[in-house]
Amino acid sequence: MSAIPVMADQLPPLFLDLLGSDFDVLSWDTAPSSVSLHRAEALITYGHPQVDGPLLDLMPNVRVISNHGVGVDHIDVAAAKARQIPVGNTPGCLDGATADMTFALILATARNVVVGDHFARSSEFTTYDPALLIGNEVNGSTIGIIGMGRIGQQVARRARAFDMRVLYHNRHRNLAAESEYSAEYRSLDDLLAESDFVTLNCPLTPQTKNLISIAQFAGMKRSAILINMARGAVVDTDALYEALSTGRIAGAGIDVTQPEPLPRDHPLLRLRNLVLTPHLGSASDRTRRRMIEMTIENLRAGLAGQPLPYSIS
Ligand code: DGY
Repeated sequence: MSAIPVMADQLPPLFLDLLGSDFDVLSWDTAPSSVSLHRAEALITYGHPQVDGPLLDLMPNVRVISNHGVGVDHIDVAAAKARQIPVGNTPGCLDGATADMTFALILATARNVVVGDHFARSSEFTTYDPALLIGNEVNGSTIGIIGMGRIGQQVARRARAFDMRVLYHNRHRNLAAESEYSAEYRSLDDLLAESDFVTLNCPLTPQTKNLISIAQFAGMKRSAILINMARGAVVDTDALYEALSTGRIAGAGIDVTQPEPLPRDHPLLRLRNLVLTPHLGSASDRTRRRMIEMTIENLRAGLAGQPLPYSIS
């Protein structure tokens, strides 16, 4: 049987190994030719390339879109549906890793881990000073989780282990989270006003775009720390800079930005009260391997005309 042509962006060696020889991977790294677009029978989205109706119109033979990752805001799902192309993603397997990283940013930001690391390596560190880099206490504080889906619940589970009071805001009440993690539902404004740590663990949708902007920062405690593990566009970037640079909030731990990456001369990159990571939410070896496996399971099912095991549409 000849290899099936599949278009994909920037696949790493592990992905290519697991794909094996059943597929002929057509690279999307540079502008793809109309011939390869026409040939492709499936589309793998690895590093969030934009997929829209006009692109799909150039790919009439595509039978499945398989996304590596749970968030599909870079794919026009309605356009795929209109063309009867199923879209798969990788839910579930990355919840623990993403919640771990949420806590990595909470702790790093609250306890000055990055600034402290730079200081401890520098020639300025000459004597132990108990007044140095006093941070915010994490244990026993109040966390406000925006988005109480699978990842949000894993964040709540970790928060309880840190003796935190858990508030949440979500489209719908999550009674399971309320009973399992003693999570208390709040309106967005009340959550922002009461929380020491506000974590964004929601998908990017038209409803969550710029959810956190000037008015929302104004409603937060001055000592609060914002964590964004969702998508950069959930936060208004200019408002974030304003809030951090004027001390409107104490700090932020940000795994995602809008745009991503930020221009190298962006003023946010100069702020000491910002901890920034390059979209590492699910970047652990076990999780990333499972994400690849699930992407390939969806790919094979879609090409075989079977229902996708992990489908968003
Ligand atoms: C996700 O799962 O959406 C992550 O952002 C990786 O793509």
